[in-house]
Amino acid sequence: MPTALIVLAAGQGSRMQSDLPKVLHEVAHAPLLVHALTSGAEVTPERTVIVAGHGGDAVEAAARAHDPDAVVVRQTQQLGTGHAVLQARAALAGFKGDAIVLYGDTPFIQPETLNAMLQARRDGADVVVLGFEAALPGRYGRLIAEGDRLDRIVEAKDATEAELAVTLCNSGVLAADADTLFDLLDQVGNDNAAGEYYLTDVPGLARAARMSARVVTCAEAETLGVNTRADLAAAEASFQARARAEAMDLGVTMTAPETVFLAHDTVIGRDVVIEPHVVFGPGVTVESGATLRAFSHLEGCHVSDGCIIGPYARLRPGAELDRGVRVGNFVEVKNAQVAEGAKLNHLSYVGDADVGARANIGAGTITCNYDGVFKHRTVIGEAAFIGSNTSLVAPVTVGAGAMTGSGSVVTMDVPDGDLALSRAKQVNKAGLAARLMAKLRAAKARETH
Ligand code: UD1
Ligand code: MG
Repeated sequence: MPTALIVLAAGQGSRMQSDLPKVLHEVAHAPLLVHALTSGAEVTPERTVIVAGHGGDAVEAAARAHDPDAVVVRQTQQLGTGHAVLQARAALAGFKGDAIVLYGDTPFIQPETLNAMLQARRDGADVVVLGFEAALPGRYGRLIAEGDRLDRIVEAKDATEAELAVTLCNSGVLAADADTLFDLLDQVGNDNAAGEYYLTDVPGLARAARMSARVVTCAEAETLGVNTRADLAAAEASFQARARAEAMDLGVTMTAPETVFLAHDTVIGRDVVIEPHVVFGPGVTVESGATLRAFSHLEGCHVSDGCIIGPYARLRPGAELDRGVRVGNFVEVKNAQVAEGAKLNHLSYVGDADVGARANIGAGTITCNYDGVFKHRTVIGEAAFIGSNTSLVAPVTVGAGAMTGSGSVVTMDVPDGDLALSRAKQVNKAGLAARLMAKLRAAKARETH
């Protein structure tokens, strides 16, 4: 049975106190909306419709960037969740199958949960609602059910005392045959405490039409919705806890997992060791057996097997490190291919560069890649030895097995095997230091007497 996803993302999220639409706030470097779409992708939807409203252009751009096939429709006035789902009707014209409604601000619904809901549909339920036992039911809609047989949903605002005592709550996720869902939504009115068209009226209307409604439940953590900055921080904490545990299950050692921050797309191989306070931005792959030492920051990079990174290293987008590369303290690498066994151990900036296998980059080496307008490349050959505190003024090539003298400013290519020296020649003035010191001390003595 084909499925379609309808993701509600039109709300303003006023409690975020933000100029950014709520669903574009990020957890683990991906917008909440992308987390919701990723959950939904597990049911391989034939069509995905996102209902945007507040900040619609930005929401549309983010949705398209993630999934070019997603259709974004607009809900110009936020008249309620039921009204929002109806905005997807035209985009689903001709679609036959199940529709699953998700919220763009609810990032952690698990694939097993969505599959359990689809299973309940296959088992004959006309409408399936995802519920959870709420620790603090507060403003959630209450599921009035007997066992898993759902009678109706009551919004907290409209509930009686007895209904408010129910702790089985509505997550907002709902599945039904798409045509049935839209037909039932046509019957939803707004005669309620909020004056809104509630999606939550659907199960009651289904029952009144002699259809069946069922509850599938999940852990409350999955249904965590983001409404405030505090919720966003809680969502981040929850994501991180799960991602660290998953990494450790897959054979990653973390000395202090609570200090390591992963991104939504971080890939880490077996037997990688991660020391405390390592932070991952998006787009990082670390292969088996690499060591990431304390306080390193990685983003958009690839670290191969056997590399040792840090402590205090920074790998920026486009850093591609081959096997056994070493990047030491206070070294920044950006948009650079570093071949097997090269060493960049101390206090360097290597950007827009190719570093050959087994090259040694001395302490304080800088690739001067930017002339104020253009970026230029530095090429360092195999087994080259770059002396400490060399400035490599790009575009420039240092050949294989070549050396640069410490403190050199290299502006011309260095042929293979040559030594480049570009610094003032040293002169020693015999006895001058001792005479100069004596003179200065005498001057000081006259001043204090
Ligand atoms: C909704 C449910 C409630 C449930 C709770 C779970 C209804 C009527 N109530 O309440 O039973 O317990 O979620 O969190 O459905 N949205 C639109 N357009 C609108 C209104 C909302 O796109 O016109 C979107 C929001 O951006 C949000 C989602 O729908 O992503 C839920 O809306 P929200 O206003 O947060 O509903 P709740 O009052 O929390
Ligand atoms: Mg809400």
